[in-house]
Amino acid sequence: MNLDFSRITQQKNVYYLTPEDANFSKHYLAVRKKEDRILTDNEVRKLPFLHRDEWPYRIQSTERFIKYVSEKSQAQCILTLGCGNGWFSNKIATISSKNEIIGLDINRKELEQAARVFHKENLRFVYADIFKITSFFQEQFDIITLNGVVQYFSDFQELFSLLQSFLKKNGEIHIMDSPFYKTSEILDAKRRTLEYYTELNVPEMSNHYHHHDQKLVEKFDTLYSYKKNIIHKILRKKDSPFSWYRWTKQ
Ligand SMILES: C[S@@+](CC[C@H](N)C(=O)[O-])C[C@H]1O[C@@H](n2cnc3c(N)ncnc32)[C@H](O)[C@@H]1O
Repeated sequence: MNLDFSRITQQKNVYYLTPEDANFSKHYLAVRKKEDRILTDNEVRKLPFLHRDEWPYRIQSTERFIKYVSEKSQAQCILTLGCGNGWFSNKIATISSKNEIIGLDINRKELEQAARVFHKENLRFVYADIFKITSFFQEQFDIITLNGVVQYFSDFQELFSLLQSFLKKNGEIHIMDSPFYKTSEILDAKRRTLEYYTELNVPEMSNHYHHHDQKLVEKFDTLYSYKKNIIHKILRKKDSPFSWYRWTKQ
């Protein structure tokens, strides 16, 4: 990786590419607290092997992605966008010390937890508003992952064009564990989201949660589709209810 972090401000082992803006994380963390989804360091270490909430449904998608990256013949530079507490970035960093992983988020509390819990030479945690960093990430990555994250970005196309510019030639964007909706379902889904966050007493969070149309990913490769996996349905195997999409830069 050509990225030089030597001059980047660091606090508690988190690198700051842009100044902190707590507007999103204030609401996001308030919701996580009410949902009892803020995990202890010990729980984070075990992820995704935790017998609560959505975690049993995330084991297979994690293992599929690890297998996918393990089969790459060249070392990979990987950006995990919206890394949260860092568990997924750490899993990928474990595949091979030759791969370099940057976990990026805008939620300082979980980034600090990530940097406290996971230590690896090939793993860095970064705070940044990606729309405010200019040339730093241009053509740096082989893979960018959005795992459970895309719904927090309002403009899919804007995000997507930016991420394309962060990729090297033949680089890939992977979207996992996030819902996309039929056009006809979106209004209802927005209403349910507003009701949900209002009930939690954090209605502001509905301004940060977005319902993307499945048409946006219809030209992507679908590497996994829950609906098609009839065997899992019959065996009632726990697996992600969301598809795994890949887009490749030509
Ligand atoms: C549901 S969590 C998913 C965390 C992790 N990827 C996982 O799979 O468990 C969503 C994460 O996206 C982050 N996020 C939301 N908006 C973001 C943005 N504009 N830039 C970076 N991260 C963002 C949140 O702070 C949060 O950590």
